Amino acid sequence: IQEHKSTQVAKTFRKAINRKEGILAIGGTSELSSEGTQHSYSEEERFAFVNWINSALENDPDCKHVLPMDPNTDDLFTSLGDGILLCKMINLSMPDTIDERTINKKKLTHFTTQENLNLALNSASAIGCHVVNIGAMDLREGKPHLVLGLLWQIIAGMKVDGETLEDLMKLSPEELLLRWANYHLENAGYQKISNFSSDIKDSRAYFHLLNQISPKGTEEDQPRIDINMSGYSEKDDLKRAEAMLQQADRLGCRQFVTPADVVNGNPKLNLAFVANLFNKYPALTKPENEDIDWGLLEGETREERTFRNWMNSLGVSPTVNHLYVDLQDALVILQLYEKINVPVDWDNKVNKPPYPKLGTNMKKLENCNYAVDLGKTAKFSLVGIGGQDLNDGNATLTLAVMWQIMRRYTLKVLENLGCGQKVDDNIIVEWVNKTLADAGKSSKITSFKDKEISTSLAVVELIDAIQPGSINFDLVKTGSLSEDDKLENAKYAISMANLVEVKPKMVMTVFACLMGRGMNHV
Ligand SMILES: *[C@@H]1O[C@H](CO)[C@@H](O)[C@H](O)[C@H]1NC(C)=O
Ligand SMILES: *[C@@H]1O[C@H](CO)[C@@H](O)[C@H](O)[C@H]1NC(C)=O
Ligand SMILES: *[C@@H]1O[C@H](CO)[C@@H](O)[C@H](O)[C@H]1NC(C)=O
Ligand SMILES: *[C@@H]1O[C@H](CO)[C@@H](O)[C@H](O)[C@H]1NC(C)=O
Ligand SMILES: *[C@@H]1O[C@H](CO)[C@@H](O)[C@H](O)[C@H]1NC(C)=O
Repeated sequence: IQEHKSTQVAKTFRKAINRKEGILAIGGTSELSSEGTQHSYSEEERFAFVNWINSALENDPDCKHVLPMDPNTDDLFTSLGDGILLCKMINLSMPDTIDERTINKKKLTHFTTQENLNLALNSASAIGCHVVNIGAMDLREGKPHLVLGLLWQIIAGMKVDGETLEDLMKLSPEELLLRWANYHLENAGYQKISNFSSDIKDSRAYFHLLNQISPKGTEEDQPRIDINMSGYSEKDDLKRAEAMLQQADRLGCRQFVTPADVVNGNPKLNLAFVANLFNKYPALTKPENEDIDWGLLEGETREERTFRNWMNSLGVSPTVNHLYVDLQDALVILQLYEKINVPVDWDNKVNKPPYPKLGTNMKKLENCNYAVDLGKTAKFSLVGIGGQDLNDGNATLTLAVMWQIMRRYTLKVLENLGCGQKVDDNIIVEWVNKTLADAGKSSKITSFKDKEISTSLAVVELIDAIQPGSINFDLVKTGSLSEDDKLENAKYAISMANLVEVKPKMVMTVFACLMGRGMNHV
């Protein structure tokens, strides 16, 4: 069994969020909104994010020049201007998204900070954030609503979901947290909630939740804590919320929300509050009494991540969090078909959510069957692949389909580049060879099966050919390379491909194409 990178994501996040001295409690101490100043953004969010970032990056030497930020001022918006904090946050959200060496940290000029900001935006997009309306200028100028919007996406994108139950995997963190909360509320005999806004305003669901998850003294390192429910019958909403937060405080979880945020039902901050509770006290009893199996939930190979990032960068909806589970109703596959000009009959052939309570899976299976049929008309090689396999989330077969779609997409992009003819592998190889040769590079590839591809040198040179001077060749390993060296090069290449602005999609797809072949997938 592989040790998965993304397993560590969860651990990193848990660690960051669990650190006792870390996130400041926002209880009552904030001097916000007392002046009656009008802001077009949420000061509560700013306050929470600043504290979060201060704590998450406090030991990062590259951030010393801006940290700690003062949560009571607009520090945040100026501190983000050089792009370094953002890159760091994104990398924390999804480790290894950004190669350390691609961030400009010294000699910060207008130009180098611009590069950092572009790197941040491109990487944010690659991990599934929607950055359509945000430009480097907005970040440099620190436009509050855009900055907060992006930060929220980055923070919310951090993996806070975790459970062994496989079907939980398909849920986005918010849905997962609702489901988790409802699991406990049901055990408490309390009504379910359907959001973290109106439904939690009276704090009563929270009281029950805290009572369910508080340590019962059955585990060695966690002394028993009994939640004092007397505040439950408090008549005033704000006082009830305060009483509830005092109990949360006893669990070390008075974070992200003030009583007013609870009573106003601020959905984002309440989501953060619950995410933190979940991380500290999942309180999920399992028959085998084993630790939460993060690996099962989050184990993702490099190849899977490549596919997932690729789809998300094309803007499929909903965002794909888990490759196989999120494709089980084929809706994303059908959206990808449209990107490769395979017409989809959405009105007559596709079942769309919400699916009926009974026969949900049948509806999804029908979509999968339709996806396979369409694939055949598009002349994909789908021998031995049925709708059922997609519906089952069979990894091998789903990847086989994905691979063909991505390949077709790559070809289409290249075609649109004006090659003017139907492109096949040979033409891509020729294009790569020619681009390299024109730029005076020594790399060449003979085919996509070329063993040399695994060194990433051709890709790195290709990037440099497309944007001369973008690659720092001191950072590229050459000669006889170990597997680790190759991985280093690949990481660097991915980061640079994100950074290079000239036709980044093409570089990424060509790159993905090369990597895909390098990984023996045909
Ligand atoms: C990104 O994350 C990885 C893994 O956590 C870490 O090794 C690397 O140093 C980080 N890069 C930056 C730029 O912080
Ligand atoms: C939250 O869910 C309840 C139903 O449980 C609904 O009445 C309410 O409108 C929802 N609030 C928001 C803000 O979506
Ligand atoms: C619970 O809280 C109430 C009100 O704050 C207090 O009077 C009571 O003593 C507390 N009970 C326990 C067992 O701590
Ligand atoms: C996926 O499909 C392949 C090919 O039919 C099969 O060999 C494999 O056992 C399937 N995997 C699972 C987990 O069912
Ligand atoms: C690419 O370059 C290699 C090495 O010179 C050569 O063997 C191959 O035929 C070229 N491929 C194409 C399609 O031009």
